[in-house]
Amino acid sequence: MDALSTFWNIWVFAIVFGTLIACGLLIRFASNQTDDGETTETTGHVYDGIEEYDNPLPRWWVMMFWATIVFAVAYIAAYGLGNMNGFLKVEVDGKQVPWSQTAQWQNEVEQFDIKVAPVFEKYAATPIVELVNNEEALQTGQRIFASNCSVCHGSSAKGSQGFPNLTDNDWLYGGTPEDIVKTITHGRHGMMPAKGLMPTMTDEQIIQTAQYVRSLNDDDLTYDAAQAEAGAGVFAQACTACHGADAKGMLITGAPNLTDNVWLYGGSTKQIEFTIRNGRSGKMPAQGDRFSKEQIHVLAAYVYSLSYKEDTK
Ligand code: HEC
Ligand code: HEC
Repeated sequence: MDALSTFWNIWVFAIVFGTLIACGLLIRFASNQTDDGETTETTGHVYDGIEEYDNPLPRWWVMMFWATIVFAVAYIAAYGLGNMNGFLKVEVDGKQVPWSQTAQWQNEVEQFDIKVAPVFEKYAATPIVELVNNEEALQTGQRIFASNCSVCHGSSAKGSQGFPNLTDNDWLYGGTPEDIVKTITHGRHGMMPAKGLMPTMTDEQIIQTAQYVRSLNDDDLTYDAAQAEAGAGVFAQACTACHGADAKGMLITGAPNLTDNVWLYGGSTKQIEFTIRNGRSGKMPAQGDRFSKEQIHVLAAYVYSLSYKEDTK
């Protein structure tokens, strides 16, 4: 957990202890009448003929107020306050650490992982290419996907702008089981530099190169032939290092194939110009710390199952 700055730390202490002290003073003030005896004096309030006696608070009642303050102090000692740790400990990663919500959460996740480990271990020995035939394993993978991956890739894994479709057998980083395991474990970061390898690219060159990119596409996109021709030279200089001489992309750089109809950010003239002008930087977060090898194995099998059937077409 990030520590609070000195100011906020003092602020928290001042408010908490200030409140406790104020409550204590209030209780003392309210129970100051030492005389425990009943009185016949009234407060002067009368409702429907019922009068209110001015008796001191019953002692057990006052003690209950004091007890809440003692409880508060004990609670703070146990759980900590601001940057101060309490005496309670939880086990994380085999070590006893001071209690915090984060530590407690980590502890619960660890306990859960230990509990579910056998579920995943029984699939670990089966290669992913075979695991795709195991309905039960795929359902387990799908559940992990739904709660951890679908925020970005969509619940049907079809992706959206900037987040690749995982069902189409068109891969930025490769679609073999090994590639998928690597992507999930270590994450990926696609870096398309603004203006490619020619930071001095003029606006005119951007427009021309975008037309050239559209001209390369199999999908019969419309383009301006003269501008496309002028953009070819820039593309060869500034773009082929990553996208390949044939513009079909490269798995090592994660640079997409620009000749097919699968777009990560969009194939309209506007989107392509935006991509070239500003660059793109898609990031797939590494999952190696969150999931065990066996869990990633099952997850990768699920991802692989979404598109592998197209291989045999
Ligand atoms: C924070 C958003 C986010 C989350 C969460 C996320 N991904 Fe990704 N993922 C991405 C982005 C963005 C890319 C593309 C990276 C790039 O543009 O270079 C990607 C790429 C991938 C790829 C490579 C696709 C290809 O074409 O090569 C796979 C496989 C993948 N993700 C699987 C997963 C799985 C499985 C999970 C859940 C454990 C997951 N992702 C969670 C954002 C996310
Ligand atoms: C350093 C490597 C590199 C260079 C140089 C480079 N690109 Fe890229 N390009 C990428 C990567 C990686 C991506 C994917 C970005 C992501 O995953 O967020 C990309 C994405 C794109 C896209 C988006 C494709 C889609 O599916 O939406 C277009 C268009 C594009 N590049 C065109 C160009 C052009 C034109 C040039 C030359 C001016 C160029 N790139 C130079 C690496 C590069």
